[in-house]
Amino acid sequence: MYRYFLKPVFFLFQPETIHHLVFRWLRILFALPAIQSIVSAVYTVRNKKLEVNILGLTFPNPVGLAAGFDKDAKLFNELSAFGFGFIEIGTLTPKGQPGNDKPRMFRLPQDQALINRMGFNNAGVDAAAERLKNRKTKMIIGGNIGKNKATPNENAMADYEYCFEKLFDFVDYFVVNVSSPNTPNLRELQEKEPLTKLLSRLKELNQSKKTPKPILLKIAPDLSNEQLDDIIDIVLTTKIDGVVATNTTISRGGLHTTSAELQKIGNGGLSGKPLSMRSTEVIKYLSVRSNQAFPIIASGGIHTAEDAIEKIKAGASLVQVYTGFVYEGPAIASNICKGLLSL
Ligand SMILES: Cc1cc2nc3c(=O)[nH]c(=O)nc-3n(C[C@H](O)[C@H](O)[C@H](O)COP(=O)(O)O)c2cc1C
Repeated sequence: MYRYFLKPVFFLFQPETIHHLVFRWLRILFALPAIQSIVSAVYTVRNKKLEVNILGLTFPNPVGLAAGFDKDAKLFNELSAFGFGFIEIGTLTPKGQPGNDKPRMFRLPQDQALINRMGFNNAGVDAAAERLKNRKTKMIIGGNIGKNKATPNENAMADYEYCFEKLFDFVDYFVVNVSSPNTPNLRELQEKEPLTKLLSRLKELNQSKKTPKPILLKIAPDLSNEQLDDIIDIVLTTKIDGVVATNTTISRGGLHTTSAELQKIGNGGLSGKPLSMRSTEVIKYLSVRSNQAFPIIASGGIHTAEDAIEKIKAGASLVQVYTGFVYEGPAIASNICKGLLSL
């Protein structure tokens, strides 16, 4: 149904336009009585064997929706019916900001990929926190936090602290995003000194709470092995809880899309199938070099159960999808769960 009917229609629209239209349609559809339960009955695979206990949380299955899809926490109640084991909202910043000029999201159908340079477009963390207060779902929700474009890196800490405090009561875990390629200089915060300072401060804030929440770090796939060694060191010394590997890549290697098309698209982070191999490599490196010292959430090119299994074999405890949701459709989580059960 999705592949042969909905996807060809959706792909006639600009990617961002259809994203917002689908959000609107789902909100109208889910206002009808019983729709949430019907959709949930169709797409949710319930089986104890799928449960994952990490980070002090029990995930009903290991397939999550990655950050960026529901940036403003507008649709997590409805999206929870599509069989995900968890949903990550954000990236949220202290103040609302428009993001980069449009168009800023592009499909690469020959590669089952996307390129985006959204630039943390969001309505600000306060608005999202208000919506999260009315959370109807028991779904595990992660809060992905970042800094405003206008905030210089020297003051970035205050932005992350603000978002952390605002979301603390409403999310189950945090992801510190310093790896988006679309906010100028953000990735410099992945360097050892600023990152250690940032994570130590968040950890300190966290420890001052009655019940601290897990904090994970989301990293870029474009880090060198030396930088990955630093990441392991930082995770162990700051004692944060884990890593999300990986965000989108600035690389354009091995694509079927022509260089003329790529040039027309311009800058941005590449996601989907072409990211899969590098993302698996990063997971394997972190897992082996750290001796599995911390949990890893895999993100990058997971479209099928085979892709998820590859990531789990490389050392991931959970997986997340974004581009796969666009190409495979609403049954992606349930298809991956069924594949995992048939092992
Ligand atoms: C349009 C778009 C927007 C994204 N926005 C965010 C974001 O705000 N924060 C973030 O941490 N990752 C963001 N991502 C990255 C995804 O969460 C994910 O890590 C990445 O796309 C790789 O997974 P995939 O190949 O399954 O898409 C975005 C990805 C896309 C395609």
